[in-house]
Amino acid sequence: MASCTPDGLLPIVVLISGRGSNLQAIIESIRNHQLPVEVRAVISNRRGAQGLEHAHYAGLPTATLEHGAFHSRGEFDEALCRLIDSFSPRLVVLAGFMRLLSAAFVAHYEGRIINIHPSLLPAYRGLNTHQRALNDRACEHGASVHYVTAELDDGPVIIQGRVPVLRGDSVDTLADRVLEQEHRIYPLAIRWIAEGRLAMKHNTVYFNGEPLSAPHQLAYNRDDDRR
Ligand code: GAR
Repeated sequence: MASCTPDGLLPIVVLISGRGSNLQAIIESIRNHQLPVEVRAVISNRRGAQGLEHAHYAGLPTATLEHGAFHSRGEFDEALCRLIDSFSPRLVVLAGFMRLLSAAFVAHYEGRIINIHPSLLPAYRGLNTHQRALNDRACEHGASVHYVTAELDDGPVIIQGRVPVLRGDSVDTLADRVLEQEHRIYPLAIRWIAEGRLAMKHNTVYFNGEPLSAPHQLAYNRDDDRR
């Protein structure tokens, strides 16, 4: 699946809706020569999304397609599909793209679309994951990178970054701890795909040609909280 540009870079399109810190982590990994990808475009469904600033600053092409301008989810998804395909990416990267996607859209990109979600899936699909982990007095929380399927925040998980939930945590402190893991696991998963080490076929993730029996796990480094 991961066929590259002549210079060996995997062409990707990144979809955002807001802050864009995961986009920024991808940009920094590229800058540090740790991520052999070419970001063909950053597309937002919200005008003025903060992440578009990161893209402009990095000299990346951007586009905005506001979902409110369309009569239906289907029409928006079709237009989004056409826009994405005009950049000919081999991988679509959802980085805080807060829109439900239709089954037709997901089927079009089957095996070529990944998402990051702020929980240890299958726990806490959907919104307010940090608050829900605190409400449950969970001992552990984290983030997951997964291939996208038609079900919300579902699809085979590639890698998870785990963090402890500490006494006295608020939504903000817990979200910050999880976000640090997100910024590690997302560039890593994309790198594996760019290197041709990772693929999804028939809903199974293959890593180095072998079915992945459980997601990769990135352990928490306690020093992260002292920085
Ligand atoms: C991230 O925490 C990401 O995991 C989450 O949105 C945030 C976007 O932050 N995504 C979802 O909840 C998807 N279900 P960012 O804009 O700073 O990358």
